[in-house]
Amino acid sequence: MTATIAPTSTTRLTGLQPTGGLHLGNLLGGIRPLVESQYDGPAIAMIADLHALTMEHDPAKVRVASLELAAVLLAAGVDPEHTALIANSQIPEHSELHYLLECVANYGEVARMIQFKEKSGSGPVRLSLLTYPVLMAADILLYDIAFVPVGEDQNQHLELARTIATRFNARYGPTFRVPEGVRPENAARVMDLAEPTRKMSKSNPSAAGRIGLLDPPEVVRRTIARAVTDNVGEVRDDPENQPGISNLLGILAACTDSRPREFTSYGELKREVTDAVEALLAPIRARYAALSADPGHLRSILAEGKAKVRPTASETVRRTRAALGLLD
Ligand code: TRP
Repeated sequence: MTATIAPTSTTRLTGLQPTGGLHLGNLLGGIRPLVESQYDGPAIAMIADLHALTMEHDPAKVRVASLELAAVLLAAGVDPEHTALIANSQIPEHSELHYLLECVANYGEVARMIQFKEKSGSGPVRLSLLTYPVLMAADILLYDIAFVPVGEDQNQHLELARTIATRFNARYGPTFRVPEGVRPENAARVMDLAEPTRKMSKSNPSAAGRIGLLDPPEVVRRTIARAVTDNVGEVRDDPENQPGISNLLGILAACTDSRPREFTSYGELKREVTDAVEALLAPIRARYAALSADPGHLRSILAEGKAKVRPTASETVRRTRAALGLLD
């Protein structure tokens, strides 16, 4: 029997880790591009809660963060009628394919992943941290995904998924579609407001330069008011010499989807950035409040997402098992 790989698949998959404390960088760099491109073709938005177990974690927090991410995605405009919203832990085929792919991935190629080296500092390192990119490959290969929007930091993992798929197909027969990484269009790189030379990130122990998506308006205003600037005294987009001001201009451009006007003072710029961020966040915050008040509804959307994608997942696993010589 010949393998049935959907040759015309245009499905796009975006995966996001439920880290909790989502911030403006997550919205402008990942979530909004996903929302804006969702009607370009079939789409899957995936909460990578299995990936959240690769580092020391608090079970209660993972559960809360997964539902929070689901609510934020919906609040930001993910349309569950069109985009399947799933959690990788809820679809057992992710784990099954993960193991099967471990049988074609090599130790050396996963051990040299930059993110593994960075995250496996001191203390006990979970084996799952090593195999993390193989699970990510499973997430992707399970659904004949054509396009995976990835930022800089996930490039190497996506390349590994392609390597694994290609090797598998060559050794065991055509089984997987080889996915393509795409730069998310309109993805803004938001820097930390207190340390504008580093990305706004959950992993910064200081929250001083971070705008939480669910921060109340007065906190947003204060964070922007305290944003680090410089003593040049002119508002110019010059990331090298004026990283703070350039970041504020970038945030303004991203929030308003237009080129910022001229500004004569830093205060004037900050006020306009505050208004633009608030205009973007206010409706998301309001929808989030309604959605998070009804976790049963969120769970039913995840269940619908799962029902939608499961047939493809089980067909892929069936095909993979057969190709590897396992009994059916
Ligand atoms: N590793 C990704 C990140 O940290 C999240 C992720 C898990 C993912 N599985 C994926 C992204 C599949 C794209 C496709 O950002």
